[in-house]
This record gives sequence, structure tokens and C-alpha cells, in this order.
Amino acid sequence: MGSAAVLLLLALVGAGTLLLEQVQGTENVTALYGSTIVIPCNGGAPAPEDLMFIKWKYETSDNSGDLLIKQTRNDQATIQATDDYAKRISLDDKYSLLITDASLKDQKTFTCLVVSDNDLLECPVSVIVYKKPSSVQVMDKPEALQKDKLTTVGTCVSSDAHPAATITWKKNGQPLLASEKAVITPSLKLDPATGLSTTSSTLQYAATKQDVGAIFACVSTYKQTDEELEMEPLSVHYPSEKISLQVMSKGPVVEGDNVTLKCHADGNPPPSSFFFHVMGEKVLVENSDTYTLTAISRGATGEYKCSLTDNKEMEASQRIVVSYLDLSLSLTGTVVKTVGDALSVKTENSSSGDAKVSWTQNGKPVKEPEFSKLTYADAGVYVCEASIDGLVRRQSFELVVEGKPSITSLRKHRPEGAKYKVLTCEAEGVPEPSFHWSINNTDEKSTYINGKAIHTITVIPKVNLTVTCNVSNKLGEDIMSISVSSIFEEHERRESGGDSGDQSKLIVGVVVALLVVAAVGGLIYWIYIKRRQGSWTTGEKEVGTAEENKKLEDNNV
Ligand SMILES: *[C@@H]1O[C@H](CO)[C@@H](O)[C@H](O)[C@H]1NC(C)=O
Ligand SMILES: *[C@@H]1O[C@H](CO)[C@@H](O)[C@H](O)[C@H]1NC(C)=O
Ligand SMILES: *[C@@H]1O[C@H](CO)[C@@H](O)[C@H](O)[C@H]1NC(C)=O
Ligand SMILES: *[C@@H]1O[C@H](CO)[C@@H](O)[C@H](O)[C@H]1NC(C)=O
Ligand SMILES: *[C@@H]1O[C@H](CO)[C@@H](O)[C@H](O)[C@H]1NC(C)=O
Ligand SMILES: *[C@@H]1O[C@H](CO)[C@@H](O)[C@H](O)[C@H]1NC(C)=O
Repeated sequence: MGSAAVLLLLALVGAGTLLLEQVQGTENVTALYGSTIVIPCNGGAPAPEDLMFIKWKYETSDNSGDLLIKQTRNDQATIQATDDYAKRISLDDKYSLLITDASLKDQKTFTCLVVSDNDLLECPVSVIVYKKPSSVQVMDKPEALQKDKLTTVGTCVSSDAHPAATITWKKNGQPLLASEKAVITPSLKLDPATGLSTTSSTLQYAATKQDVGAIFACVSTYKQTDEELEMEPLSVHYPSEKISLQVMSKGPVVEGDNVTLKCHADGNPPPSSFFFHVMGEKVLVENSDTYTLTAISRGATGEYKCSLTDNKEMEASQRIVVSYLDLSLSLTGTVVKTVGDALSVKTENSSSGDAKVSWTQNGKPVKEPEFSKLTYADAGVYVCEASIDGLVRRQSFELVVEGKPSITSLRKHRPEGAKYKVLTCEAEGVPEPSFHWSINNTDEKSTYINGKAIHTITVIPKVNLTVTCNVSNKLGEDIMSISVSSIFEEHERRESGGDSGDQSKLIVGVVVALLVVAAVGGLIYWIYIKRRQGSWTTGEKEVGTAEENKKLEDNNV
């Protein structure tokens, strides 16, 4: 019976005479790739009361095919398709055609025929299948951009979409338009099996130094929706345009210094190797920008250069002047001279400039030593200092002025009320003289400063003595004598010029006088008074002898 109806229908359609036929405007149905397409029949309108059957078919420009038919009498729709559609199609209760696993091949017009007793409706529906890109990614990313040179920033790929996605580029958030400096090469690939499109776009960009850190982004636009991929900031590589050479030295370069040369070039990345031109030699230095001249010599004065290994044109130079100073004296170490000798010293200096020369003796500034007659005071450490450009050289010698000792003074002294005498012998002489006295003594003291020796002793002379001071060193001796009266001689007068003969006569005179006193008792008191008027003031008369009144000649030297 169904087939009869179909035959009838086909006859009607084929004849084209039936005026009842109505063709609706084409509806559009969109579906996502891989999903189930739902194609409503007659816009989803309820079926007419007198419905006989509903049939789905499809049409493309070059072929057509029946899909299924559902007669009202039958519960089940009858699948007519024999191709790929046979397993994918079904009908829902509103007579909508369901197609599973949508693909681009399903983009065609499906027509629903609604056949009723009095009517025939033909409702075509166009199916459009969308597929958004399965991935958007950027490839071919460089490590850095090259200044003024088209460098690939990246290739942006938006794959397997339908319709095809479009790709645009942005720099720092602003759309990047194609230009000489930004070359954009698009490409589109269609997968013949799926019909899906893969869009790609390669951006080449000629950067400037200002583009350091610029952020490029690729924008994939699909159905008015943007997917933006930001890239990591890129640095810009550029060759050096300036090169400089630095001599790392705090002050003037001085012979013996370690001098470091430092080369700097402004490229990015900074050059890691350099040529240093040192004394006519070209030295390659890798992974460093310095070269050290160890213990530079005076002959190293000259022009120094550095250059780039990959561009010999880039070269910088510096002149280094090595200061030097030599100083030598004709006298060194310890110089021993004798008092009265002549002395002169020759200095020799050779230097890279005008040297300042100065002298000190024992730390005090003096003129250049030049003596026609040396004295002890001329002895000492002489330092000659020459300087130039902060370079200082010192040479020194020690002058020793020797001489046979010479006594400059021999004195005696009796401290007030003392029962001893202090003798002082002073002498000049180098080396330090030794002192020998002709009398036993105690409390020996001596000082020796700048060739002057002072020696003191304490004596207790029991009798009148002539004391000698014997001063000697390896060069000779000097002797001086002094008369020292006994300390038991209470009456010490400062008489001078008397001799021992006069003293004897005086002693005899006094004895006679005493005899006269003994004989003439009346005169005793007068004599006593006379003695009190003298200078005898010590209390030592009880140990004295008969001669205790006699005068001493202390100052005979
Ligand atoms: C269906 O889509 C086509 C092209 O895609 C369009 O020209 C037509 O107007 C659409 N029909 C309706 C009813 O929107
Ligand atoms: C110079 O360098 C050498 C070795 O590098 C070192 O032994 C010497 O102490 C340095 N001289 C100075 C003055 O720094
Ligand atoms: C040493 O230096 C002084 C001062 O610059 C100069 O007058 C003198 O001629 C120099 N002597 C020699 C031998 O170069
Ligand atoms: C010095 O003293 C010693 C003993 O202390 C003695 O033997 C000697 O005779 C004395 N010499 C003189 C010159 O008094
Ligand atoms: C003085 O002393 C030195 C050293 O002791 C000695 O050699 C010399 O003979 C002495 N001179 C006299 C005159 O006593
Ligand atoms: C010591 O010398 C003094 C003066 O020269 C003289 O008067 C006295 O008699 C002398 N004494 C002796 C013991 O020689």
C-alpha cells in the first residue's frame, strides 16, 4: 500500500501538475561538527490531520538521495538510504530528521515532504556545520629579534576549523599592519578528508632598539570571537656601534703595576670575545672583556687597542704611558768616616719625567749632604727621596763619624754637707769611649748621646790625690787630671794658683803660730775668734790632724 502511495506521489510530482504542492523558503540549520544535527520538518509545525506520510531526502548540486519515510500507519520509519546515512539517521516524534556525528559533508539541503490527502508540502532545510579551531598555537619562535632585519617573530597556526579562522597580529596590544617592517605571510590549508581549514600566518619583523621587551600576540578570529595568544617579550639583538677601551688604573701607570685593559662594546648581546692589541701582538680573549698586563715595564709605553672578533672595523685604542724612576746613591749601607774628613754623595736618577729629589737626616729635611770637614753632628741616617707621578723611590745610607775621644771637661763637685765628691768627666768620641779612673769609686754613671759621653763617679778621697780620667776607644785615648783634696781637709778654699811649696811654708808658719799661742795664753781667745772668722764650718775637726787648718788647692786642674 505504501509503495502505491509513493508511486502516486511520484506520479504527482513527476507530472508537476498538482497545484497543491507548496515549496517553503529554505530554512537554515546549524550544527556543531561531531554533534547530532536536528533538522525540523516544516519548521517544527504540527503535521496535518490527514497526513499520509512524511519523507526525508537530500539534494546537492550533483546528486540526491532518499533517506527515510514514515507512514502514519506504521510505527517505524523506513530507512531508504543505502549509503553512509543509513546508520546515522533517525526521526523523532516531531518528524525532525536526526543525523549523528555531523561533518562538513552534511552541509547540503535536506528536504522534508509532507504528504497528506489534500496537500503536498516540500520543506527544504540547509544544514551548515561549524567547527571552531581545535588549537591555536605559535611556532617558530626566535630567541631574539635582530635590529633592522626581518626576523620571524612566529608562525601562528589555527588548525582544523570551519569556516576558516582568520589570523591577525598585535604588538603591545595594537593591531600590527603589514608594512616593510612587518611582513605577514598568510596561508590556508584544507584537509581533503575532513574539509576542515587550517589557517596559518607568519610574522616577520624588523625591530628597532625600542622594541626591546615588546609583546607580540597572535589573534585567531573565529565567528567574531578572538582567541589571543601573547608571546614572551623578546629582546632585540643588534651589533655594536660603539667600542671603547678603558685602562683600569687609579692613577698614572707606574712601572711594575698590573694594568688591566677593559673593552666595552654596546651591542646586544654584549660581545663575549675581543682582540686585544698588545705590543704589536693580537691576543684573543674569550668569555672576558679584560686583559691584564702584569708588572708593566717602562718599555711598554705605547698604543693599546681592542677590537671585535667579528668586526675588525670596530676598534678602540688608548695610549699608556708607564712612569718609572730609578734612584741610586754612590753611598749605601753604613758609611764610616772620621771627624774632619770630607764627604760627598752622588745621586743618579733616571725617570720618565722631572723627578723631585729631597733629603732628610734622621727624619729632618736637609740639603744634599756635602761636607768638607765632618763633625759628629753630621752623623745619622740620610734618606734621599725622589718622586714622580706618585711614584716614590728612596735610598739611604747611615753615616757614622768616628773620632778619637777628646775630653772636653773634667770637674769635681762636693754637694753641700756631703762626705764624698762627685767627679764628672765629659768627652766626645765615636765609637763610645770607655772611661778609666785612677781612683776607686762608686756610683758610676754614664750617658752617651750623639757622640758626647758624660761619666760621673763618686769618690771618698782620704788623702789629697791627683785623679786622672782616661777616655779611650779603638781610635785612641785622652787623659786629663784633676787634684782632689782629701775630704778630711775640712777647710776647702777656692784658692787658685798656689803651689805645694807655698803650702809647706804656710803649714810651718801655722805650727809656729800655734806654739806661740801655747806660749802666750793671753792670745788664745783672740786666735779662737780669728779662726771663727774663717770658712771652717764642717763638724769634722775631731777626726782631723794637726794639719787640719791647712788650705786645699782644689781648683788646680
Ligand atoms: C540561510 O543561509 C543562506 C546562506 O547561508 C542565506 O542566504 C539565507 O538567507 C538563510 N536563510 C534564512 C531563512 O535565514
Ligand atoms: C700582579 O699580578 C701578579 C699575578 O697576577 C701578582 O702576583 C702580583 O701581586 C700583582 N701585583 C700587584 C702590584 O698587584
Ligand atoms: C736627578 O733629578 C734632578 C731633579 O729632577 C735633576 O736635577 C738631576 O739632573 C737628575 N740627575 C740625573 C743624574 O739624572
Ligand atoms: C782600690 O780598692 C781595692 C779593693 O777594694 C784595693 O785593693 C786597692 O788597693 C784600691 N786602690 C787604690 C788606688 O786605692
Ligand atoms: C788608658 O786606658 C787604656 C785602656 O784601658 C789603656 O790602654 C791606656 O794605657 C791608659 N792610659 C794611661 C795613660 O793610663
Ligand atoms: C792637702 O792639700 C792641701 C792644699 O793643697 C794642703 O794644705 C794639705 O796640707 C795637704 N794635706 C796632706 C796630708 O798632704
